Amino acid sequence: MSSGPTCAVIASKCPDIKVTIVDINQARIDAWNSDKIPIYEPGLEELVFAQRGKNLFFSSDVDAAILESDLIFVSVNTPTKKGGIGKGFAADLAYVEAATRRIALVAQSSKVIIEKSTVPCRTAESMRKILDANHRPGVTFDILSNPEFLAEGTAIKDLFAPDRVLIGHLPSETGVKAMQALSSVYARWVPQERIVTTRLWSSELTKLASNALLAQRISSINALSAICEATGADVDEVSYACGLDSRIGPKFLKASVGFGGSCFQKDILNLVYLSRSLHLPEVADYWEQVVIMNDYQKRRFGEQIVRELFNTITGKKICVYGFAFKKDTGDTRESAAIALIEAFVKENANVQIYDPQVEASQIHYDLTHEADITDAQYEKLITVHKNAYTAAESSDAIVVVTEWDEFKTLDYKKIYGTMKKPACIFDGRLILKPEALREIGFKVTTIGKAATF
Ligand code: UDX
Repeated sequence: MSSGPTCAVIASKCPDIKVTIVDINQARIDAWNSDKIPIYEPGLEELVFAQRGKNLFFSSDVDAAILESDLIFVSVNTPTKKGGIGKGFAADLAYVEAATRRIALVAQSSKVIIEKSTVPCRTAESMRKILDANHRPGVTFDILSNPEFLAEGTAIKDLFAPDRVLIGHLPSETGVKAMQALSSVYARWVPQERIVTTRLWSSELTKLASNALLAQRISSINALSAICEATGADVDEVSYACGLDSRIGPKFLKASVGFGGSCFQKDILNLVYLSRSLHLPEVADYWEQVVIMNDYQKRRFGEQIVRELFNTITGKKICVYGFAFKKDTGDTRESAAIALIEAFVKENANVQIYDPQVEASQIHYDLTHEADITDAQYEKLITVHKNAYTAAESSDAIVVVTEWDEFKTLDYKKIYGTMKKPACIFDGRLILKPEALREIGFKVTTIGKAATF
């Protein structure tokens, strides 16, 4: 995900630098070269259209790009391993290794290789070993770690004005030179004091640590949301009041149905695996609890919905608002919607889904591959809608899973008129106005708020 936005921003800020994005997947490259780029990210399309063909190129000719580049970003997938040693926790570095071997094989001049994929600590070391063992005579490689901190939906904004750019390097003379070369690219638009340089391992660990700390805040507020529901406190009030303490701060304290996305869970599981490998079981358990709490939050919300609908949703129509893991993105990886809909299907409910960005084919893929739902169940129980109103028609309940702005301004009076009664609404994102909805007649349940009908 990160390479498109990052390269588009570098190309736009550095007109004299030629940026080529390569991928072995021709269809993906064709999509980047077409009128409809393959990811939805506010501001990205404009940037790509402005630079493409000038100093920004998309190609599947990997070797040609390796030959002509001075700096090479390795930004490949590092999914959680699905089998073998470290199954379910460790990152699968097969793509990093394949890319590194390709560079070693093809390069005819010295290069700076920049590790951009999120990788567990000391991957740079493995990359260096592969490069040292396979390079052509006279060709040298320097490795840098330059983790990406952009968030989806705000990627371009984050890249234009990053809190910090982190560059990890070896303390050797060539390591420092390589760092300076990359640093001078960012210095075109990032103030010098925001370009932080560290040793390689610190940089690699910082990426995992940052995501673990952010996710930990969400699991902490979500754990408090359960206490709020049980006691009558309001989690938004608690979060706001806590966040005013400048030592705590207000960001990443919004209770929700659970965090999703390609990074948080994967990176924490990596950290857990790393801790276990280092014989630090208490540390591993500590971080694993962040993921356990997140799974609990998703499960808890699903169970609450069934409970409110008189303990059975068999044959009932549940309308799900949002499938992306957060607003302003079409990305669905680890989205809470997947786990929730799986739970609804297990109870034989009919599920009506609407998301403003996610394609029906993606929803079908996720539910039949990432969830335990068969094609037959999908056919029978799931419908994807093109607008929020038809999705809610004749449903028993609406469940808000993604915080898309459009869900805040729908005509809920009109929606109420088309639903079965009692009409229930479950706000997993705390974006609706419960009082106004109750006035219309809805039975409202909000995460982190005690039920008052
Ligand atoms: C994250 C990191 O923020 C980014 O720095 C890193 O480079 C990649 O991982 P991203 O996955 O794009 O970015 O999304 P983010 O905005 O961090 O949200 C992750 C999940 O947490 C989403 O599901 C979001 O809805 C949820 N979230 C976020 C909350 O539930 N509450 C919050 O207060 C904030």
